[in-house]
Amino acid sequence: MEKIKIGIIGCGGIANGKHMPAIRKLDDVEMTAFCDIIPERAQKAAEEYGTSDAKVYTDYKELLKDERINNVRILTPNKWHAVMSIEALYAGKHVMCEKPMAINYREAQEMLKAQKETGKLLTIGYQHKFDPDVVYAKQEALKNTFGDIYYAKANVIRRRGVPTWGVFTQKAEQGGGSLIDIGTHALDIVLYLMDNYKPKMVLGTTYDRLKNQKECANPFGPWNAENYDVEECASGYLVMENGATIILETSWALNTTDTASIRYMICGTDAGADNYNGKFKINGVCNNKQYITEPDLSTGGVAFYKGNETSPAIQEQRTFINAILGKEELVTKAETAAVVTQILEGIYISAKTGAAYYFNR
Ligand SMILES: NC(=O)c1ccc[n+]([C@@H]2O[C@H](COP(=O)([O-])OP(=O)(O)OC[C@H]3O[C@@H](n4cnc5c(N)ncnc54)[C@H](O)[C@@H]3O)[C@@H](O)[C@H]2O)c1
Repeated sequence: MEKIKIGIIGCGGIANGKHMPAIRKLDDVEMTAFCDIIPERAQKAAEEYGTSDAKVYTDYKELLKDERINNVRILTPNKWHAVMSIEALYAGKHVMCEKPMAINYREAQEMLKAQKETGKLLTIGYQHKFDPDVVYAKQEALKNTFGDIYYAKANVIRRRGVPTWGVFTQKAEQGGGSLIDIGTHALDIVLYLMDNYKPKMVLGTTYDRLKNQKECANPFGPWNAENYDVEECASGYLVMENGATIILETSWALNTTDTASIRYMICGTDAGADNYNGKFKINGVCNNKQYITEPDLSTGGVAFYKGNETSPAIQEQRTFINAILGKEELVTKAETAAVVTQILEGIYISAKTGAAYYFNR
């Protein structure tokens, strides 16, 4: 059977770190088109991951004319997500775009419109939904183990971890800093577990208090304050239409030892779950005693696919390809990713105005 052909737009960090190695593990697809404004990057990707007849482009519009490919990955800085996704959808391609969906809600809505008008698939690269603990928690949520989830926390806290490659510290390119870059993942997980995409209001704060400090001690190398106009720390107090609360905290740099990669806590009427201290636990009350269960996520019980198709990055690609083949539903639907972007925007607006932001006014 002929393999499904994929085009890669943006051959930088996430292309090399996540998408291309994962796609290579699937036996029914191949990468035949690569684009980057830096031609050597596209060329190198084509040589390392492409078919022998792979084409290399520096203009994504040219790649989108390539009739061999029916789906693309959009792996460029955030300001390109909407424009490229929309053009790709109208060019007849299914799209997996990296997170965040867009730099603002208006653009996310335009992407949704293009998706609906074309009938093509659009998904966003929130691969942490395939982490074993999140998969397990979601299965429990679907069984209603937690009851009504009305209180939650989501955070990603780096003591120092400002991404200094690419354009991450530039607002015009990315739309924001730590919140839109990493906070977005934690928020996405909590909304997914709560299955609640109706925000009512948010109170947000953002900070860039450390960027002028000369001694960075940044693992990704020193940052350049002159090229740095985004927040390094943000928080949001979010209230949903049904009264549920989500507290979101995120930082690329903060003077704290309470660091976490992606941490969440969900609290329902019947039970709760959290992944604090690197351990996934479910808590509740049973036989008039408090209990905590700690599932063994290292066993094969949560793996969806045979063989070595088990990493979150591979499952993300597998799910998208299966959705193209009509075999499976998308896990990250564009409608829900748009709400993540809407909430992030609400936090930015609230931080700027100093007032709570109401989503439906
Ligand atoms: N899912 C995750 O966990 C995760 C992690 C890191 C980055 N990302 C996302 O991936 C995206 C890219 O981040 P990155 O770390 O790969 O950045 P990067 O700077 O390493 O790579 C981006 C690439 O896009 C290329 N590019 C820029 N403009 C282009 C254009 N108009 N046409 C074609 N190529 C263009 C750049 O030359 C570069 O090679 C961002 O949106 C980021 O939020 C997601």
